[in-house]
Amino acid sequence: MNALFDLSGQRILITGASAGIGRATAIRLAASRAHLFLVARREEKLLEVKTQILAHYPQAQVELIVTDINDPECTELIAARTEKHIDVLINNAGLALGRDKVETSKLSDWEGMIQTNIVANFKLVHLVLPWMLERKQGDIINICSVAGLYTYQGGSVYCATKHAVHAFTRVLREETCGKNIRVMQVSPGMVETEFSKVRFNGDEKSAALVYSDMTPLSGEDVARMIQFMLESPRHVTIDEMITMPTDQGSPTTVVRKGMR
Ligand SMILES: NC(=O)c1ccc[n+]([C@@H]2O[C@H](COP(=O)([O-])OP(=O)(O)OC[C@H]3O[C@@H](n4cnc5c(N)ncnc54)[C@H](OP(=O)(O)O)[C@@H]3O)[C@@H](O)[C@H]2O)c1
Repeated sequence: MNALFDLSGQRILITGASAGIGRATAIRLAASRAHLFLVARREEKLLEVKTQILAHYPQAQVELIVTDINDPECTELIAARTEKHIDVLINNAGLALGRDKVETSKLSDWEGMIQTNIVANFKLVHLVLPWMLERKQGDIINICSVAGLYTYQGGSVYCATKHAVHAFTRVLREETCGKNIRVMQVSPGMVETEFSKVRFNGDEKSAALVYSDMTPLSGEDVARMIQFMLESPRHVTIDEMITMPTDQGSPTTVVRKGMR
């Protein structure tokens, strides 16, 4: 009953596995001998992840699915490549675009965030949940954010999308309760990944300032939490793991060197 859940052979779909949290999670779960299906748009980055995994674990099973999760054909492609058998979905691909206030932000940025963080992520749950219900087992981890619990100026639509993820996860948890489907959520604070570079449209200087003079989380920190959640005994569902850097108290409270 209290045995840890063995991930070997588990078919795990990770979206956004070409960078940051998704990449670190793929590398960590390969060590648990999971059968990985890695999704992202940049094929060369996915190939790097696969090469890195195989260098450490030559027997690892790693399949790459190069697609934009907003592409209408994405779900069909995933169904075909996974043969409609996924044991674990890690719904991680997501992004923030811009830090402008409501009246000056770009509508195209809003659409990009709503489409990716809400519509595409929810559609993936809609795709794989029936397969899990049929097999009477499955795990879904939605990567939310502290922006799904708090709000901050300049984060209106990003916060709104993550609040939506939070609400969706809660409903899913209630609806699947008693069906051996573990629905979980990870809500990190600041993690140093490509996230800020994407948010500032490739401006590396602005991205670096976000993490200056403090110690952010790494993708590997979050990956370790995801592994802990998944390897917990099957009767244990960690509803939500909220984690911030020690130097961060909330999205708006960050203590940098010299401020202490
Ligand atoms: N970093 C933070 O501070 C932080 C904090 C809280 C929550 N989060 C959340 O954590 C998740 C991962 O972010 P991260 O920090 O690891 O950022 P990241 O380094 O920018 O990674 C984002 C990943 O998502 C993929 N992706 C983005 N749009 C996609 C699309 N339309 N189709 C397919 N893949 C797509 C990217 O791959 P391609 O570009 O190759 O497609 C990349 O692999 C996101 O949901 C984010 O909101 C991040």
